[in-house]
Amino acid sequence: MKDQLIQALEWRYATKKFDATQQLDANDKETIERVLQLTPTSYGLQPLHFIWIEDGALREQIKTLAWNQQQIVDAASVLVLCAKNDLDTTYLDQHADNMRDTRAMAEEQIKGFRNHLHTAIGQKAAADIKSWNGKQAYIALGQLLTACALLELDATPMEGFDPAALDQLLDLHAQGLHSVLLCPIGKRAADDHYQTLKKVRRPKNLLFSTR
Ligand SMILES: Cc1cc2nc3c(=O)[nH]c(=O)nc-3n(C[C@H](O)[C@H](O)[C@H](O)COP(=O)(O)O)c2cc1C
Repeated sequence: MKDQLIQALEWRYATKKFDATQQLDANDKETIERVLQLTPTSYGLQPLHFIWIEDGALREQIKTLAWNQQQIVDAASVLVLCAKNDLDTTYLDQHADNMRDTRAMAEEQIKGFRNHLHTAIGQKAAADIKSWNGKQAYIALGQLLTACALLELDATPMEGFDPAALDQLLDLHAQGLHSVLLCPIGKRAADDHYQTLKKVRRPKNLLFSTR
């Protein structure tokens, strides 16, 4: 497993050119959805929503908001990783209810967690909550990229787009959401020369220390 994991992470790269003839296998799509569902988030709140963009015309429109990055139209599919704009008391209670019911707990047992959610999150400014929710999308992205690598799927993490314009295009505000990241997924084109480039990474001695 150790070798398989490292090999997969060395094999993956931020794909610049996808093979536009490839489709996403239904099993792979299901696995990706489970991977994203299993993503850990702060308090388990999952303030996230994921949109598969399949429609070709919509992809062309998104491309124009994303530095004309060709991966948006050529990849087998494109995921938009969205985060909630807020965390209202109803949402917090639904999360506590879900935990109580899933684990067959009594209300008395979940009360402390429920109250803590209301207190801790109630103290946060609206802008901080929005930004905090957005950070959870990055956790999902990390997990997604590793999963794709293990599934031998190519993926390109993308911040290179105009989020306000995309939110408008997808009418995300009406759903209480904002876009955080894009991730085209599919199969690399055989002639994408980026796959031949060596990984550029800072040396371990600068990344790690022990105390
Ligand atoms: C959050 C994030 C945003 C990124 N945005 C883009 C992007 O908009 N377009 C792109 O081609 N690559 C993008 N990248 C890819 C990075 O440039 C790439 O992951 C990094 O240089 C390391 O190379 P590797 O992923 O090929 O190993 C992004 C990566 C991350 C993690």
